[in-house]
Formats: sequence, C-alpha cells, structure tokens
Amino acid sequence: MQQNQTQTQNIVILISGRGSNMEAIVKSWQHQMFPQNTKIAAVISNNADAAGLNFAKQHNIATEVLSHKNFASRQEYDQSLIKIIDKYTPKLVVLAGFMRILSPEFVQHYQQRLMNIHPSLLPSLTGLHTHKRAIESGLKIHGCTVHFVTAELDAGPIIIQGAVPVLPNDNEDILAARVLKIEHKIYSKAIQLFLQGKINANSDSNNQNADEFLIAF
Ligand code: GAR
Repeated sequence: MQQNQTQTQNIVILISGRGSNMEAIVKSWQHQMFPQNTKIAAVISNNADAAGLNFAKQHNIATEVLSHKNFASRQEYDQSLIKIIDKYTPKLVVLAGFMRILSPEFVQHYQQRLMNIHPSLLPSLTGLHTHKRAIESGLKIHGCTVHFVTAELDAGPIIIQGAVPVLPNDNEDILAARVLKIEHKIYSKAIQLFLQGKINANSDSNNQNADEFLIAF
C-alpha cells in the first residue's frame, strides 16, 4: 500500500485513565519513529479526571473530554464521540486503555483504522483482570496484543504480540508492570508499521518479517 507522504496522517488517541500507553506513543512520535507526516492530533477521554490528559496538554496536544455519564445509550454516546474524533480527520484511531465497550456502529465507522491494546496474549484471556487470571491459571508465559478492532470484543486481527514470563513470586501488580513495559514498545511498533503502509486489517502479518511482529523478553 503506497501512502501519500504529503498529506498529514493524523492519529487520535482515546484514553480513560493513566494514559501510559498514550505517553509512550507520544514519545515515539517525538523521537520520529513514525513517518514525518504523522501528527498526534488529539487525546480524547470519557473521563475528565484521566491523568493522561495532563501529559497531553503539557505536550501541546489537543484534548477533549466526553463523559459517557451524560448519555442515555451507548449508541448516542458513540455517535457524539464520532463527531468529536472526526474533527481531527484521523488516519488512525488508537484505543489506549479506553475502557468502554464500543457499539457496532462505532467500530464500523472506523473499520480498518481502529487499533486496541489488550493485556494478554489473545485469543487467551479476553476481558478484564487478565494478569490475575494468568497467575491463577498457572500460565508460564503471558503478555500483550495489539490488534485491529472488530465488532467482537478483543477478537480482531492481531498485529503484534509481546511475551513475558510469569515468575513464581509474581502477584498481579508485578506481572502487570512487566507486561506494561512491553505494551509501551509494541503499540508504537504497530502504529509505525500501519503508518508506513506495511500492514492493514486484511493483510496476514505472519507472512511478513516475523521479527517485527513478536517481541519476547
Ligand atoms: C493497559 O494495560 C491496557 O493494556 C489495558 O488498560 C491499561 C491502560 O493503561 N487495556 C485494556 O484492558 C483494554 N481491554 P494506560 O492507561 O497506562 O495505558
């Protein structure tokens, strides 16, 4: 896929809380890991108290808050969110700890340009409390996955995975911290590959250079 080098490739990042993945992506952008025409156009949150909003503001990135509490239905919220996101004409919408289930209409609207990071080696451990469940299941390897988003929760085409060991004395927090370090690496890598036109939601990444799609420590 050839990309137009002159037209800006806008990224919009959605967060709900801490925003450490968003921070890592912004730093990758500042360190020129993405094509030159890339811009992180906005960071949007459903939660006015999301700590990550401060980081975005300090880095002169536009921020917006749309609280879901003011909406009667998921569909109405998502339609308003679409209006805000589309002001920034995104090439890519990045879910970075955006803790909401998305309506099928929202997913359809951003089909093929919507990415998510999930703290497990999908398709294992979809849903919540993945680190606790990894320990309780006796897993020896755990990790994280960046994937394109489809209507089914945590189930779209996998772009990159990062693996870490589960060690004998791990608790949920220790394991989460080990996985998070890898999340920060693989999300930027997935975004880089997408903006370079090396992957899309229909391509089989596994047929390409394997080193680029698995990070193991
Ligand atoms: C990350 O661990 C991310 O994988 C997870 O939320 C955390 C957000 O942290 N996402 C999900 O569980 C989505 N199902 P952050 O706000 O510091 O990036």
